[in-house]
Amino acid sequence: MDVFTAISQRSSVRAYKDTDVEEDKLRKILEAARLSPSASNRQEWKFVVVKNKETRKDLAQAAFGQSFIGEAPVVIVACGTESKSVMGCGQPTHTVDVSIACTFMILQAYELGLGTCWIGAFKEDAVKNILKIPKQVRVVAMTPLGYPDEPASPKDRKRLDQIVCFEKYE
Ligand SMILES: Cc1cc2nc3c(=O)[nH]c(=O)nc-3n(C[C@H](O)[C@H](O)[C@H](O)COP(=O)(O)O)c2cc1C
Repeated sequence: MDVFTAISQRSSVRAYKDTDVEEDKLRKILEAARLSPSASNRQEWKFVVVKNKETRKDLAQAAFGQSFIGEAPVVIVACGTESKSVMGCGQPTHTVDVSIACTFMILQAYELGLGTCWIGAFKEDAVKNILKIPKQVRVVAMTPLGYPDEPASPKDRKRLDQIVCFEKYE
């Protein structure tokens, strides 16, 4: 599968089969995170892989009861380990770095036939409490990971001419 096929055909998955994710596939997805770029190549991130059923359910509760999160056999919780660094452009480094790593994982998962759903709606303190994440570490995102139990949803996107301009902002 080429990269554009993955980008254009992937969609968020909110229903999962009760089928385990093979270890070699999980490892390849985590490798995609490991190999992703980061500011100054600092790699200040940690990915918590959760398979325990009770913990997954607790994470779903921390995500305002989005129960499908706990129904996937794996949940990956993506953290920035150094949250004080700000780039020259003013953006927080960890948010950008960890988001890129999550994006790489999501595309790699799709290529392997696995579904994901970026989760940004969660109570960070609750997630940190569940996973014993240290105070200074920030939770940027999480995603369930598993075999989809629903058809892909069609893309609903703005047209290119609505979001792209040339030479100056208009
Ligand atoms: C930063 C971010 C946060 C999101 N948070 C959630 C979430 O908490 N729950 C959820 O079901 N989907 C969440 N999504 C998924 C979006 O709703 C989804 O990507 C968007 O509707 C486009 O659909 P698609 O992923 O199927 O292409 C999030 C996506 C992003 C990028």
